[in-house]
Amino acid sequence: MNTDKRLFILFVFQILILVISPEEYSGLYVQDVDDILFHNLYNALISEDFDKKFDGVVELRKLIASPDPPYEGLEKTAVLQRLVEFLSSEKDNIQDESALAIATLCSKGYSHHVVIAHGIEYLFDTFGSRNITTVQQGILAFGYIMSHNPDFRDKCVDEGIVFHLNRLVFSSKTPDFLLKNISWAISNFFVGTDEYMDEEAVREILPALSALIQHNDHEIVQHAVMAYGYLAAGGGKYIQLVIDSGRIGNIIASLNHTDEKVQFSAAGVLAILFTGNHQQIQQIINHGALQKLIQLLIHPTPDLKKNSLQAINNLVTYGTSKQIQALLDLNVISLICDLLDNCSRTVVKASLDIIHLLLGKSDDIREVINRHVTEWGGLEKMEKIMDKTISRLHNEDNKDFDQGTCSR
Ligand SMILES: *[C@@H]1O[C@H](CO)[C@@H](O)[C@H](O)[C@H]1NC(C)=O
Ligand SMILES: *[C@@H]1O[C@H](CO)[C@@H](O)[C@H](O)[C@H]1NC(C)=O
Ligand SMILES: *[C@@H]1O[C@H](CO)[C@@H](O)[C@H](O)[C@H]1NC(C)=O
Ligand SMILES: *[C@@H]1O[C@H](CO)[C@@H](O)[C@H](O)[C@H]1NC(C)=O
Repeated sequence: MNTDKRLFILFVFQILILVISPEEYSGLYVQDVDDILFHNLYNALISEDFDKKFDGVVELRKLIASPDPPYEGLEKTAVLQRLVEFLSSEKDNIQDESALAIATLCSKGYSHHVVIAHGIEYLFDTFGSRNITTVQQGILAFGYIMSHNPDFRDKCVDEGIVFHLNRLVFSSKTPDFLLKNISWAISNFFVGTDEYMDEEAVREILPALSALIQHNDHEIVQHAVMAYGYLAAGGGKYIQLVIDSGRIGNIIASLNHTDEKVQFSAAGVLAILFTGNHQQIQQIINHGALQKLIQLLIHPTPDLKKNSLQAINNLVTYGTSKQIQALLDLNVISLICDLLDNCSRTVVKASLDIIHLLLGKSDDIREVINRHVTEWGGLEKMEKIMDKTISRLHNEDNKDFDQGTCSR
C-alpha cells in the first residue's frame, strides 16, 4: 500500500470515530487542546520577552474574535486577568491589542468575565491612549458593559464614566466616527433606567446628549434619540427630565428626518413619552407632535406605520378627552381606516386596536368617530374593506404568509 492510500484510510477511520461517537471523542479532544492552549498562552503573557508576550496577546485577541472561542478556558484560567491588566500596559501595541480583544469579548455578551477581572477600572486607561482606535475600543467595551445590566452600569458610573463621556463629547479633537460610538454608548447608559439610577449622573450626562442630538450625522442623532427614549422608559420623573432637557423639539423634528432609522426611533420615543401624565402629554402635543406623527401613517415603510400607531394607541390610552379630540381633529380616523385595506396583519391589527379603544371612550368621542367614518366613506365602504381584508388574511394563513401590500 502506498503512503497516500494509508493516509486516506487513516483519515476515513478518524471521520468514522467522529461519526460514531461524536460527543465523547470531540469533548475529550477539545478539553486537552484547551488546556495546552491556555497553558502556552499564559506562559507567553507572563514572559519577559516582549515579542513573545506581544505574540501571545495577538493570538488571544484572534482566538476571542474567532466564531466559537473557548470561553470556559478564558473564565477558568488566569489568562483573562493578564489580558485585562494589559489595558494599562505602557507598551502601546500591547495596550492596543488587549483593548481590541476586551471590546470584542464584551460585544459577544461576555462582559461579566471582564467585570469580574476588574476590567472596568483598567478600561479607563484606554482613554489615555494616543491611538484613537484604542480609545474607540474602550468606548465600545463600556457601551456593552453598561447595557449588560444596571449593576454594571452603576459600577461604571461610580468609577467615573460620565466624566469621560462628557469630556470626549465636548472635545474638538473627537472625530465623528468616535462620536457615533459615544452616542451609542450613552444610549446604552440609559438602558434599564429605573428608580435606583443615580439621578445626579443622569443630569450630568444630559448636556452631552443634548449636543449629540443636534449633530448633523444621522447615526449620532439616531442613537441620541434612542437614548432619550430609554431614559423616558424609566417612567414619570424621567419623562419629566426628558421634557425639561429642552430637546423635545429635536425629537419631534426627527419624526420627519430624511433617514428612516431616525424617524423610526423618534416615533418609538413618542410612544414612550405618551405613557406620561396628562401635563406631560400636553407638553409633547404643544410641540406639534401630532401632525408629524400622523404623517408616518402614510409612510410606505410598515415599521414606521407600526411605531406611529403605537404612539397613537398610547395617546388614546393615557390622554384626556381633550387630547384625544386634538388627535381626531387632524382627521386621523380616515388615515387609520385606510390602513385596514391592503396592509400587513400587524398594521391592520394595530389600527383595529385603536378604533376599538376609541369606541370605548365617551359618547362625545363616539359621535366624532361616527361623523369621520361617514365622511371617509361610511359603513358600507368599511364593510367592503373588512370582507376583502378578512379573506386576504385567511388566504395568508393558508399560505403561511404575512405581508400586506399597502405602500401608502
Ligand atoms: C492602533 O491600535 C490598533 C488595534 O486596536 C492597531 O491595529 C493599530 O495598528 C494601532 N495604530 C497605531 C498607529 O499604532
Ligand atoms: C462604532 O463606530 C464605527 C465607525 O463609525 C461603526 O462602524 C460601528 O458600527 C460602531 N459600533 C457601534 C457598536 O456603534
Ligand atoms: C419636516 O417638516 C417641516 C414642517 O412640517 C418642514 O419644514 C421640513 O422641511 C420637513 N423636513 C423634511 C426632511 O421633510
Ligand atoms: C388597496 O389596493 C387597491 C388595489 O390594489 C387599490 O385600488 C386601493 O386604493 C388600495 N387602498 C389603499 C388604501 O391603498
